[in-house]
Parts: sequence; C-alpha cells; structure tokens
Amino acid sequence: MKGIILAGGAGTRLYPTTIVTSKQLLPVFDKPMIYYPLSVLMLAGIKDILIITTPNDIDNFKKLLGNGKRFGINLTYKIQEKPNGLAEAFIVGEDFIGDDNVTLILGDNIFFGPKFSTLLSRAKKDVETQGGANIYAYMVKDPNRYGIVEFDENLNAISIEEKPLNPKSNYAVTGLYMYDNKVIKYAKSLTPSKRGELEITDINNLYLKNKNLRVEVLGRGFSWLDTGTHQSLLRAGMYIQTIEENQGIKIACLEEVAYNMGFLTKEEIIEQIKAYKNNEYYDYIRGLVE
Ligand code: G1P
Repeated sequence: MKGIILAGGAGTRLYPTTIVTSKQLLPVFDKPMIYYPLSVLMLAGIKDILIITTPNDIDNFKKLLGNGKRFGINLTYKIQEKPNGLAEAFIVGEDFIGDDNVTLILGDNIFFGPKFSTLLSRAKKDVETQGGANIYAYMVKDPNRYGIVEFDENLNAISIEEKPLNPKSNYAVTGLYMYDNKVIKYAKSLTPSKRGELEITDINNLYLKNKNLRVEVLGRGFSWLDTGTHQSLLRAGMYIQTIEENQGIKIACLEEVAYNMGFLTKEEIIEQIKAYKNNEYYDYIRGLVE
C-alpha cells in the first residue's frame, strides 16, 4: 500500500495567512498541519508516501520533511500545476502508485479517535484482500460543504453527492480514502465537474456502482477537524492543545509514531531531534525513549 498526501490548493479562504505559505504548513498548535495526515499514513503502516503540492510550496515541504528518513519513511514530491481536483492525485501519482493499492489523505484533515490504528489496519487488509475501496463518513452540521453519503436502513451507502443543495443526510465523506489499483483507471475516465474539478466523489460513485465501496461511519467519540477557515483553524489548534495538555500525550508527533511503529530505533530518534534542543517538543520525545 502506497500513500499520497494532497497538499495543494490556493488556501484563499485563509488569506492573508496563506499568501506566502501553504495552508498545510500552518501550525495547528505545536506542529505543522501536514504532520497530522502524515501521522495517519504512518499509523496505517504506510512508508512510501508521495506529497503532491503546488509549484510555489514544494520547496518548503521538502525543507520541512526532506526524504522522510528522519521519520523512518520514504517521501517523494510531485507538483499539481493547478487545483484541478482531488481525483487528479491518482493521475499525477500514477508512476508512484505503480501496480500497488493507495491511500489518499487530504493535507488539511485532522483525525483523532479511539482505536484508529486498528481501524486503519482493518481497512488496509480489506483493500488488499477484497479490492475495492474503504472510505469514512462523519456527522456534520453543514452538509452542503462536503461530499454527502446517503445510507439505507442497514447503513449501506446508496448515493454520494458532492456539495448537494438538498443533502440527503448529514454524513460527510472525510478526506481519507483507501483504494485498489483501479483508482488510476477510474481517475483517468473522469470529466471535470461543474466547478471544473476531477471529483473524488465521482471516483467513489464508480466504486459504489461496482458494489465495491465500503463506507464506515466514524462515531461521535471520534474527532474529524476542519481547518478551512480562520475560526476552524484556531479551534483545531485549541482542541489539540486541550487534549495534549490534559493527557500529557501528543497527537501526531511523527517521531513518536515512528518509534512506536518500529520505523526508527531509540538512538536514531535522539539523533534526529538534536536540533530541537531546549524546547518542550524535544523534552517530550526524549522522555518517551528514555
Ligand atoms: C473535498 C471533497 C469532499 C469531501 C471533503 C473532505 O471537498 O470534494 O467530497 O467531503 O473534501 O474534506 P473540498 O475540499 O474540495 O471542498
């Protein structure tokens, strides 16, 4: 299973904060936003990861994350020239995916919840053994902002609509998608939607039509945080701060995930964090490995 993080977009809704930097590099409390989706892929045991971003931002992502060795993973980078839609990730990433399966996560999506790693390994196994796709639905207040799933009484998905005017439910499709290799063929078959984008919702509908789409609802004990507006970005930061300071455990600390997943040894971790000296992030990781 390969992983892709889509970290494109102009971020105009966050102007002026995103005039000179990518939205996915802004801080969410104590770490850059992209750490959160990257930790999700790592928790799924995915080590080969492609970051797709804009011509303006690619160098900054490289500066931040390098080739991934610091976290025991392999990172590569590609440019999406224009925001032509999420589904274009599978066309831009075709060579990287090769004949493997792939998980796509949006660079501005924050997931936090119980037994998340178990859920991720289960989904990965589903795709590896049965093919098809696993996606996640989450209850939201403002369904016209998202891809919306309609369920029958047995919680089987029956339709998915992108930003519907008259939403058939309050279940949004989150920005975490696991697909078999057919996703490349499906992406190439799409035509742009009314908003001029290759829609991930159209890909999900192809899987649905072929009876190969598994939609799992993430319950209310789970958090899926939005970072698309000034208010929601600040709220996400305060949420992370609240949980981290209550429990003394960090969320999406990549060094910690790498250590727990066995991607790096204690000595390798200590070597990697040298530059962080005299800060609380350093003390936290040092405390973990000692
Ligand atoms: C995209 C998808 C939408 C999904 C959302 C999740 O929306 O098109 O189906 O629910 O991500 O964050 P966009 O970010 O393009 O508005």
